[in-house]
Amino acid sequence: MIEIKKNSIITIRIEALSYGGRGIGKYNGIVVFVSHTVPGDIVKVNVTKRKESYLEADLLEIEEPSPIRIPAPCPLFGVCGGCNWQNIPYEKQVVYKEEIARSLVEHIGKQTSFVLHPVISSPLAWKYRNKVDFTFGKNPEGNLILGFHKPGIYHEILDVKECLLHPEIFNDLMNEMKDFCREKGLTPYDPRDHCGNVRHFILRCSGNDHPEGKKGVIAILLTAQEELPGRDELVDRLRSRCPALTGFIHGLNEGKADIARMDKPIHVWGDDYLHDRLDRISFRLSALSFFQTNTRAAEPLYETTRRFLSLTGKENLLDAYCGVGSIGIYCAHQAKRVYGIEILREAVWDARKNAAMNRLDNCLFLCGEFRKTLPILLNRIRDGIQRVVMDPPRGGLDKKSLRSIIELRAPVLAYVSCNPTTFARDAEILFHGGYRITDIQPVDMFPHTYHIEMVSRFEMEKPF
Ligand SMILES: C[S@@+](CC[C@H](N)C(=O)[O-])C[C@H]1O[C@@H](n2cnc3c(N)ncnc32)[C@H](O)[C@@H]1O
Repeated sequence: MIEIKKNSIITIRIEALSYGGRGIGKYNGIVVFVSHTVPGDIVKVNVTKRKESYLEADLLEIEEPSPIRIPAPCPLFGVCGGCNWQNIPYEKQVVYKEEIARSLVEHIGKQTSFVLHPVISSPLAWKYRNKVDFTFGKNPEGNLILGFHKPGIYHEILDVKECLLHPEIFNDLMNEMKDFCREKGLTPYDPRDHCGNVRHFILRCSGNDHPEGKKGVIAILLTAQEELPGRDELVDRLRSRCPALTGFIHGLNEGKADIARMDKPIHVWGDDYLHDRLDRISFRLSALSFFQTNTRAAEPLYETTRRFLSLTGKENLLDAYCGVGSIGIYCAHQAKRVYGIEILREAVWDARKNAAMNRLDNCLFLCGEFRKTLPILLNRIRDGIQRVVMDPPRGGLDKKSLRSIIELRAPVLAYVSCNPTTFARDAEILFHGGYRITDIQPVDMFPHTYHIEMVSRFEMEKPF
């Protein structure tokens, strides 16, 4: 094998895409990862990292562009990093996602005998997001800007005027907010010295029309201090620019970490919650409760989850990491009882209201950390758990939680995951606990990005 040193300049053909979005090529049999490339490109690259089994390289020149390349419509493409597959036709993106899902589950999860169903495409390829989180920052001239974090540089913000992934009204509200803050001389919060005030501007809207016409758009402004000069004037301006706005919440975030959390909500005007709908089921969502970001694609995701659970009406279903109860409630008509566990108090309140709103009396939602709350739940029920659906955050489940799920010995499990690497890791633990994957259904919730959402069905194969 030829020795390749750091800073070697080589030419390779990009063959595939990796989870994370980088192109994959090979040089003398060694895998090379290169950002900003597309399968079919022939590229000149500079090797920046040499690891035992692969190389990382920076793109120097596209010697021959791939025939599948298309122009990216967003002017911030390549700089923003939010959706770096815009230069690949949408119908090809879903094929690459399927290949990535298969290879991760086979390599990390060490399972091969499952059926991987073709990716279900998002009903909307653009403007599909029902939520966006903008961060305030400063440009090099010291002026306030509002936009997204630059990839890899957590304290630098990219000024955004328009994003193609969410509805137009979010762009209008964001630009109005930015103008207002500049005119009033408000200072952006800087996570490095903890100075400044305005931190995050979060916008959410209903993705589907509500049967009673309660479609909404709410704005949440997070600041480091409670004092916000001109707040009423700001709300008037946002309302007159965007009459579809239905609520404004001002939240205090005193934490040091640069995450959008609300220590004290101040309900300023209109609704402090949102309504959305999946199929015929309505959901009420508090300002920061989790809800699937692409409402229209959540319907096939939940429909598949319900089918994978093989419910007959006789089973108790545990909805682990249940958020506002959405999956459990979606399945409740086919289950004997639904038990949900969720850490966020507001989401549990929403879940209880959602069950009542949908006239369900077979759902119980408990608030707490999953691992600690499951034993409390099990002490309250006598007829066991026969089905489990788990939908954890990106990091997946911790080992103890997985072990406690395995110990329930439910014949069928469904795992909804937004991160195929942590899913594959957890699938291996479930495999050693006696569970075999039978089916995987990826659903594209995030067109033009490398993100993959999928639901997997597990069957208990042998006693552990
Ligand atoms: C990916 S969301 C899924 C929510 C819901 N299943 C849905 O589809 O809308 C993950 C949820 O897990 C909750 N969560 C995170 N860590 C948790 C923990 N340790 N115990 C219980 N819930 C947790 C989050 O607040 C969030 O609502």
